Amino acid sequence: MEVIEKAPAKINLGLDVLYKRPDGYHELEMIMTSIDLSDRLTFSPLPNKKIIIQTDNGFLPRDKKNNIYQTIEIMQKAYGFSDGVLVHLTKNIPVAAGLGGGSSDAAATFRGLNRLFGLNATLNDMVKLSIPVGTDVPFCLYGKTALVKGLGDIVQPLEHSIPQCWVVLVKPKLSISTPKVFSRMRLEELHHPNIRALKTAIEQQDYQQMTKELGNSLEGYTLNKYPSVQGIKDKMLAFGADAAVMSGSGPTVFALCQHYSRAVRVANGLRGFCDEVYLVRTLNQ
Ligand code: C5P
Repeated sequence: MEVIEKAPAKINLGLDVLYKRPDGYHELEMIMTSIDLSDRLTFSPLPNKKIIIQTDNGFLPRDKKNNIYQTIEIMQKAYGFSDGVLVHLTKNIPVAAGLGGGSSDAAATFRGLNRLFGLNATLNDMVKLSIPVGTDVPFCLYGKTALVKGLGDIVQPLEHSIPQCWVVLVKPKLSISTPKVFSRMRLEELHHPNIRALKTAIEQQDYQQMTKELGNSLEGYTLNKYPSVQGIKDKMLAFGADAAVMSGSGPTVFALCQHYSRAVRVANGLRGFCDEVYLVRTLNQ
């Protein structure tokens, strides 16, 4: 018996950092959507609670540090089953890129184990269990364009997904630590996108207005510290992108294009400067 799950990447159309909470974390308000760039996970049972993660990606831990491993342990404990799990992960989403790949793999693991072992877990059950695993896991479980608040734990799916468009992703060869971004950025200097206006534009399916309202509070720090990321953003716009913004805590920058020919021009233009360029569609969910 084998179960296959697709784990799509996400982008932050809007990310606003509201304030620092007493627990040290930052209260966020975001609009997120899934894109058609996905990891693939295959699950099959093993005896005696054994957990094995196979992947060709040499950068990923395969022990308790891995989100998939943590999710399996959480499900084993919550549902009291004694089976183990063999997971094969085909990694297509760039790692540590601001695209939520690890969170999406965890969400796919909740769904996969639910099917593999017939656990009858509801979406709500899985969301509750997922909160310790990672900020973006609840969003990935919903899998719909959504307003996301708190630390990522409050997910309100929007009535409409974003108007269909093409997404060009460029992942610079930089590794940016999320904790560093949060601890070094200066709250008083942050740019605050208007999340409410962005939500309204999506609800009205107004593509032009939506592209005007995209924004990310975390972008300023990174663009300032890494001028090459600013360079990518500038080039995307120069090649004709409708908008270009950094996703999450970066360093991936994404461009939106309504027309395919434009998206191809942006992607090909950027391939002259960066190795990792992807041209994908938004996922209409
Ligand atoms: O969510 P993730 O585990 O990637 O977060 C890494 C670190 O980023 C946290 O330990 C915290 O220092 C910081 N962070 C924050 N506020 C958030 C999310 C993350 O301060 N909402």
